[in-house]
Amino acid sequence: MNFLDEIKNLKEQIKSKDKFDINFNFDNIVISGMGGSGIVGNIFQEYYTSIPVISIGDYGIPGFVNEKTLFIVVSYSGNTEETLSNVEDAKKKGAHVRAITSGGKLATIVEKSIIIPSGIQPRSALGYMLMPLFNTFAPIDDAIVSQTYGILDDMDKNHSDIKSEAFKIYENSSIPIIYGSKPFKSVAYRWKTQFNENAKTFAFYSYFPELNHNDTMPLKSAYRRDEYLFYAFESDNARINQRIGITEEITGEQFTVVKSPSQDYFSKLFYLIHYADYLTYELALVRNVDPTDVSTIEELKKKLA
Ligand code: F6R
Repeated sequence: MNFLDEIKNLKEQIKSKDKFDINFNFDNIVISGMGGSGIVGNIFQEYYTSIPVISIGDYGIPGFVNEKTLFIVVSYSGNTEETLSNVEDAKKKGAHVRAITSGGKLATIVEKSIIIPSGIQPRSALGYMLMPLFNTFAPIDDAIVSQTYGILDDMDKNHSDIKSEAFKIYENSSIPIIYGSKPFKSVAYRWKTQFNENAKTFAFYSYFPELNHNDTMPLKSAYRRDEYLFYAFESDNARINQRIGITEEITGEQFTVVKSPSQDYFSKLFYLIHYADYLTYELALVRNVDPTDVSTIEELKKKLA
């Protein structure tokens, strides 16, 4: 599958019915993963608040992990060092360990794994990796999934406005700064990582209201202020939208405000994710870099092996 087809495959991935069969009680959920797999836990942690959910992307597991913890490990390759080390630690603490992976060592050390299709970039498998969490803990209505499919399909058919934006970033050699807000702070981070991996550019992120307590200063008076290009996500919280407006007004900085065609959480989540898929893909093309290339990351992993 070429990279454009991988991007277009997202709408099929959200139809996944994969789920965990959980027949025991647990007090908390810990989700472990790095990079393109780690974002899955970040998104879910921000959305699902019925019981404590912690997303980790590091060596070492939280001290509270015990036999009442459901420990879900997400690694597309199944061979990520930090994630594999978390499995050993979680097992030692007696946690119930489950995995979402396309294979690798992970599939051999965690008995109850959800195996997803292999052969694509981990960051292109976000739908496959995220849906089992929704399906198990917070199922999405079929009508909402269909609506979201339509929104993604429309973008697959025509994203000429996003392509022009990518060209603008390229022409001005801009550094993107993305401002999210709850429950899409993790999506602002996903944008950053897509700029990094697809377009090979730096990008930075923060979120409302926190940035009104720090970033607001350089927004008005940063050194080389015109080198940055700002994105903000329209919120369904009126107070956040008011903050976006007032921040623009008092700093004189204009944000590109990204507005989803639907206010439904699931549709908006995937609209915002897909927007960045295209923005960073088109930026890679205009920069003449290969959006699939992650050779430097692979070289580093090899040196550490
Ligand atoms: C994304 C990507 C990386 C990996 C990360 C962890 O496309 O290539 O961010 O996701 O290095 O590897 P996995 O996902 O295999 O656990």
